[in-house]
Amino acid sequence: MSLKSNPQQYGTVAVSIHWVSALLIIILLGTGLRADQMADSAARIAVLRVHVVLGLTILLLTLARIAWWLFADSKPASVVTVLWQHRLSGAVHLLFYVVILGMAASGIGMLILSGAAPLIFEGAAGTLPDFDLYPPRRAHGFGARLMIALFVLHTGAALYHHVFKRDGLMRRMWFGAR
Ligand code: HEM
Repeated sequence: MSLKSNPQQYGTVAVSIHWVSALLIIILLGTGLRADQMADSAARIAVLRVHVVLGLTILLLTLARIAWWLFADSKPASVVTVLWQHRLSGAVHLLFYVVILGMAASGIGMLILSGAAPLIFEGAAGTLPDFDLYPPRRAHGFGARLMIALFVLHTGAALYHHVFKRDGLMRRMWFGAR
């Protein structure tokens, strides 16, 4: 299996970025929803520290992924033969990029406007601000729901292909030669 994709399968770089991003998104959704429910400020800061570091990591990874597809690699041919499914999968994939970049931008916006960064990164004394007072918080909450919907659609479609159509779509996004 080579670093780059070929017409039949994704390459090692694309497969690695895909699965690391999936794992990061699951942890980000979990830590974000958890932090939102927490009353204890110190515990919430600890959860948000993990959340923010991983959020910035997925931002860098997504920028690297965009650069990889633009300048270094080309996607394998689509195995989806039904036009509306082809269009829907294209829209979901594009929306993933938009939502990830939007989540990162609104997350950074919240930290800058609220001045919470020193509490989260430097362990400065004090309690966390009420993030609801800052406009990016609404966008971040909306983006989180959209991300969950995309995740369900994307995973559902992949399982449908794997279990019912058995067209090898999932195997293309894994390591090793087919
Ligand atoms: C793809 C990336 C990200 C995902 C999927 C994500 C997910 C979430 C979720 C699900 C919530 C809770 C939303 C709600 O309950 O309405 C949340 C809250 C939050 N996120 Fe993110 N996030 C991401 C990136 C970031 C980044 C990059 C930052 C900061 C640089 C950030 C900072 C925050 C903050 C400050 C909160 C508020 C927590 C609270 O209300 O206690 N997030 N995020």
